[in-house]
Amino acid sequence: MNKKPIVAGNWKMNKTPSQGKEFIHDIEKLVPDIQNTKVIFFPAYPGLFDIKINPPFYLGAQNCHWEDSGAFTGEVSIEMLRECYVEYIIIGHSERRQLFNENNNNINKKIKAILSENLKPILCIGETIEHRNSGLTEDFLQNQLVEGLEGVESIDDCIIAYEPIWAIGTGETADKDQIYNAHNFINSVLKKLYPESNNCHILYGGSVNTENTKDLIQISGVDGFLIGGASLNIDSFASIINYVEKN
Ligand code: PGA
Repeated sequence: MNKKPIVAGNWKMNKTPSQGKEFIHDIEKLVPDIQNTKVIFFPAYPGLFDIKINPPFYLGAQNCHWEDSGAFTGEVSIEMLRECYVEYIIIGHSERRQLFNENNNNINKKIKAILSENLKPILCIGETIEHRNSGLTEDFLQNQLVEGLEGVESIDDCIIAYEPIWAIGTGETADKDQIYNAHNFINSVLKKLYPESNNCHILYGGSVNTENTKDLIQISGVDGFLIGGASLNIDSFASIINYVEKN
């Protein structure tokens, strides 16, 4: 792998700010000598405030609004996140798409706003089990990429997370061939859209854990992981970071 792999922990609506702070502190102590991996923590919004963090550890947010400010009750702007030293923002997670009606159009606005503020979006894409069973996985992924990235000039600061919906939080990981094929396909779509770019990380997400990390990180085209459940536990998250660091 010629890019520094990324291990991203999406805590979703878990951990209070003080629990999160303690967790980050404990991870820093448990894996003090990380040279080849970037580790990104994604607490809920209140947990982003007053966190001091240094590379190889970074802070990310789980969402944002695309407008700078205004009458958008319950929303958070990119500037607010920047003041908390957020560098990465997850956009279009399948839970946001499915539970909060996000679509490719507002996802696209968010991606463009994040890039214009010089932060880094992690665009999540992934098919349902129905798409996969009907042979529509590639069409669906292509559509999410094309519409999500419409009007984006460069993807050098973008990260893509391939997260098959049926593998998220289910304990059912996609198999090696499925992951290899999807990453390869995503890469080929990106090559067509952005022939000059080969910088874009493609992460895998969906029931990544301490047992499967060793195998998954060997798959060509996998540049790291977006992890939900296993990122909440100190021992599992630390051992995943260690596996990725050593491979
Ligand atoms: P999971 O979640 O690791 O618990 O499957 C992944 C994600 O939602 O990003």
